[in-house]
Amino acid sequence: TTRIVLDCDTGSDDAVAIMAAALHPELELIAVSTVNGNVALPNTTENTLRVLDHIGVKVPVHAGAARPLVRPDFPVPRHILNADNPDFQIDYLDLEPSTTEVRPGSAVQLLIDTFLVPENDDVVLVALGPLTNVALALIAEPRLAAKIRKLVIMGGAHVGGNVTPTAEFNFWVDPEAARAVFSAGIRDIVVVPLDATHSAPLTATDCEEFHALGTPAGTAASALIRHRIEEQLEPETAAVPVHDALCIAYLVRPDVITASGSYHVDVETSGDRTLGQMIVDTRPWSTAPVTATVATAASAEVFREVLRDAFGNGA
Ligand code: BDR
Ligand code: CA
Repeated sequence: TTRIVLDCDTGSDDAVAIMAAALHPELELIAVSTVNGNVALPNTTENTLRVLDHIGVKVPVHAGAARPLVRPDFPVPRHILNADNPDFQIDYLDLEPSTTEVRPGSAVQLLIDTFLVPENDDVVLVALGPLTNVALALIAEPRLAAKIRKLVIMGGAHVGGNVTPTAEFNFWVDPEAARAVFSAGIRDIVVVPLDATHSAPLTATDCEEFHALGTPAGTAASALIRHRIEEQLEPETAAVPVHDALCIAYLVRPDVITASGSYHVDVETSGDRTLGQMIVDTRPWSTAPVTATVATAASAEVFREVLRDAFGNGA
């Protein structure tokens, strides 16, 4: 089994990732930290607690940063991005309000305390939202960089963005944090950007299969992914990326990533049209040190297999 800590901004695909991480027989989710991102921090935290309650899994949840590292707030008013439902909890899923309390102590302290102790030197950190908590922990405790065995990040795009033409959402929300994480000296960083997540989309058939598992996780994942499908311009034929969950699949089946390369990776923090863009130095003659492995393609077949194994496991 691989033991993991998840940092997330739940969020629909974060919810699918949390359920996969909590339920897959080859994974052990030891803690979850929440960050400002898809929605404001109180909502990402409540959504996370609701999802864990729904599948009956008890894992400590700690709340972290409510704002990006140096920027005063979310880059644009939230209602511009999320016009229909600016404060959404995962309403369309109809999950009960959580009955579990968020743990005292910030997510930043949780990350420091977890990764500094030698008993946890096998734990993998998986970051599925803006990198604010991870950056804050690395800044507060510089020894942390050498203690994290492996960091898997959903974020960035090598070619094309989602929230702007060049930037992916997680890096765009907190570009300074992303930049700080790549330059911290963590020895093994795997980035799963949009290039990979869009190459392994899931479909309405997958939703039916997850639903047919008859478990709380299968039913919820089906509803969450179906909602993403219905948001598409042509829902009848749509296949959608479920970004964050692909990082979890990678932990169980590294072969879900079918193409990748190791490069110096940086993040734009000042461009007036390129804020938050991931910069991957693919020049063969570059002398810049390699800082991360960047996934560029993935297998939808392997992805759905891992999710089926996880959601079928829910009681
Ligand atoms: C990322 O942004 C968020 O909206 C998703 O949860 C995912 O982590 C994709 O760009
Ligand atoms: Ca996310």
